[in-house]
Amino acid sequence: MVAKIRKAVFPVAGQGTRFLPATKVVPKELLPIIDKPLIQYAVEEAREAGIEEFIFVDSRGKSIIANHFDANPELEDILLAKGKYELLQTVQESTIPPGCAVYSRQEKALGLGHAIWCARKLIDNQPFAVLLPDDLFFYSPNCLKQLVDEYERFGGHMLAVHDVPIQDTEKYGILKITKDNGLTVIADTLVEKPKPIDAPSNVAIAGRYILSPVIFEALDKKIIGTGGEIQLTDAITATLDKVTCTGVRFKGKRFDCGSVNGWLQANIYLGLQREDINDFLLKYLQKLGFNCENDKI
Ligand code: UTP
Repeated sequence: MVAKIRKAVFPVAGQGTRFLPATKVVPKELLPIIDKPLIQYAVEEAREAGIEEFIFVDSRGKSIIANHFDANPELEDILLAKGKYELLQTVQESTIPPGCAVYSRQEKALGLGHAIWCARKLIDNQPFAVLLPDDLFFYSPNCLKQLVDEYERFGGHMLAVHDVPIQDTEKYGILKITKDNGLTVIADTLVEKPKPIDAPSNVAIAGRYILSPVIFEALDKKIIGTGGEIQLTDAITATLDKVTCTGVRFKGKRFDCGSVNGWLQANIYLGLQREDINDFLLKYLQKLGFNCENDKI
């Protein structure tokens, strides 16, 4: 029987340069999609998938992420006194219970692999999940839960994957596949951001993983890869003589909210899904001259 996935790592130490000047002070992970910060969507996804301990790898200037998940008794008192019970519930639901959130610091943004390595002392030699908060997914069961469900069958490293247009391979970690079962694929190598001509497939990693703790043996070596960064993909490849690597073609929609275009799309998509906003947004888009029928978006 495989171990239950109880811990998740949220790397939030990046610079978010694609969102400057918004991210000069405000962490990218706190930018809202409608009215909820990106990082909270990822935490809620993890919680629904059974995660009990939330490990954030942050950097200087990002402490307000910890504040976001802390209780805010003054605000709660005000909302209670004013009878704003729904908002009170919203505020309370955004809190992570005491002792369940831990924070580790990445001194320098040396790459995603290095960010995960910064959580090594908090993992206890157990398999763990990784969620990149700028990737936002919509589906039920959610993306991490889909991985957790398949993990029981495969073990090892598990990655959320999707088929991308071949001209886009330079934006992703790409799998070299040895077996394609449709829903799942088995990989023996990962290549970070290859040019289309060098890409071993068009199956790309999205920002959800379950990793075996064996990953730290490779990350300990701090090997520099593509872009001068310590790449998680290289570390996964380096451990494939010890564990398998399974990609799960996730169901649902994904938005790359680390880019302005993806963030904008996610806001419009969610706005059209939400009953409290849908009518207003459709009317506004129609007023601007767009002929959008909700079911076609
Ligand atoms: P990105 O490359 O998308 O984030 O990393 P970034 O570097 O902040 O973005 P840009 O390109 O400058 O706009 C994906 C995730 O990995 C984290 C980021 O915070 C983001 O959540 N990350 C990346 C780290 O925590 N540390 C790193 O050294 C690199």
